[in-house]
Amino acid sequence: MKVIVSDSYEEMSKKAADLFKSLLVEKPQSKLGLATGSTPVGLYENLVKAQKDGEISFHWAKSVNLDEYVGIDPKNEQSYQYFMDENLFNKVNIKKENTHLPKADTNDEKYAKEYDKVLDEMGPRDIQILGLGNNGHIAFNEPADKLNKRTSIVKLTDETIKANSRFFKSEEDVPKYAISMGMADAFNAKTIIVLASGKNKFDAVKKIIEDDKIDTNFPASLLHLHPNCYLFVDKEAYEG
Ligand code: GLP
Repeated sequence: MKVIVSDSYEEMSKKAADLFKSLLVEKPQSKLGLATGSTPVGLYENLVKAQKDGEISFHWAKSVNLDEYVGIDPKNEQSYQYFMDENLFNKVNIKKENTHLPKADTNDEKYAKEYDKVLDEMGPRDIQILGLGNNGHIAFNEPADKLNKRTSIVKLTDETIKANSRFFKSEEDVPKYAISMGMADAFNAKTIIVLASGKNKFDAVKKIIEDDKIDTNFPASLLHLHPNCYLFVDKEAYEG
């Protein structure tokens, strides 16, 4: 794993975008794995600007996203579909039909199987963006003795509900379940770009860098198994 430390969130976002851009220029028909959360917003801003400036194009790219809340309307501002539309899809020239997010109206695992089909059709990604939960979760793969290989409906931990409540009116409004890509698919990419910013990610970042054990109770530790993983962090996440 290569760790790239930046002085600020802005610098971190720019450096991650530079890597992303160089890979997309090399292969315009790249298959992209995209992530939501507040951390990749700066990266997406840089990509939108780069396309406006003619540096990159998403015309030939295809994308899959990691996760979505169960039972949320895609037009709801808290849905990950809305996030992706607002932060990237509506602002670049990616073809809407080439973008995919998991969707589950209920807790039925049939929705997970449907998304696995989408992932199988897409095949391995060229670039995968990942954020980091405070508890080391990847997508919505929460710490556990066993982790899902493939897409599943997952019950969110109290910690994640609390962390994500900042986007909702109250903690009660946070959906209790999500549909999430499993670990095998989340890591099925040639290059993984992980982003972590701010003091509240310090413990997780420290654990990734310093702990020499792979531990399913800290899903982010599995990143060490990937041969081409870049961890972009800002000073606050690195130093606390
Ligand atoms: C959510 C998402 C994760 C994301 C994490 C961190 O729980 N399911 O994919 O990495 O939040 O979000 P943030 O970047 O807002 O800290």
